[in-house]
Amino acid sequence: MAILLRMPRRRELWIDALEQRFPDQTVVVSANDIIRKNVDPADIEYVIGWSIKWDELVQYPNLKAVLLSSAGIDHLDWDLIPEGVVVTRLIDPSMSNEIAAYAVHWVVHFARFFDLYRSQQHQAVWEIAPTRPDKTVGILGLGAIGTVVADRMGDFDYPVVSWSRSEKSTPYGRHYVGAVELLEFFEASDYVVNLLPLSDATAHVVGADELAALGSGVFINAGRGGTVDTEALLQALDGELHAAVLDVFETEPLPPESPLWSHPKAVITPHVAGETNPYTAIDVIGNNIDRIEQGDEPLTQVHRSTY
Ligand code: GLV
Repeated sequence: MAILLRMPRRRELWIDALEQRFPDQTVVVSANDIIRKNVDPADIEYVIGWSIKWDELVQYPNLKAVLLSSAGIDHLDWDLIPEGVVVTRLIDPSMSNEIAAYAVHWVVHFARFFDLYRSQQHQAVWEIAPTRPDKTVGILGLGAIGTVVADRMGDFDYPVVSWSRSEKSTPYGRHYVGAVELLEFFEASDYVVNLLPLSDATAHVVGADELAALGSGVFINAGRGGTVDTEALLQALDGELHAAVLDVFETEPLPPESPLWSHPKAVITPHVAGETNPYTAIDVIGNNIDRIEQGDEPLTQVHRSTY
């Protein structure tokens, strides 16, 4: 068996993690590597990673599964995935925790006025902001990651509300459901943490009306850039919105000419909110490979029909 790794970032660590987990397998990283290591394409049973070259999959006749190193599946190309090949996405608890830490970091930053103190520092001003009532954190997208983010916010006693397309039970504040309750959700939230995946149903779901309903709140996006209307976001930032913390964008990398880079109310990070730890990720992915080898359905399988 051979494993094709399609991971441009931190590749050495991914190879190391894979070689530790599968010491008997050959790990290859490119078409050249396949030739160099004299691997028969028919030996490639698993493709792992993020930057999958969908059109090459057909060259591996014994391919069993594509194991994504991402939670997001918006870059999948089903037309090029051979029938019968299993696809899984990655839900790695350590990645969910990282995203939660990112969200908590920014909520605390604004809720505790650290942005204000930072700007006061530049004028040598020692002034304590008035206390304000508790800020409500709205979790936009209450899936596997959103649930962890909600838990961590709850740990810090932030009031939490949430929204998703379907009914969910949550131990926190009100859960808003579907398009009809989206504006109400934004009105109820002071800080919105967006964790929505991108699909036809969520494209530009956050627009001018939603951002207006958020008022002088903070919008944190660690989901997908395409779920937000960027023009509307820029207008909201020019208006009442207090700040936007953006880790994901409609186009990545964010083009140098984007006005978001220099907007005084925007914080930009380069899609690192949930940086994947190769070792914990390979644990999860490896377990899925074991399940497939034993004839069991892997966890977090993505089904063609549900896409
Ligand atoms: C990262 O954005 C992911 O989808 O895992």
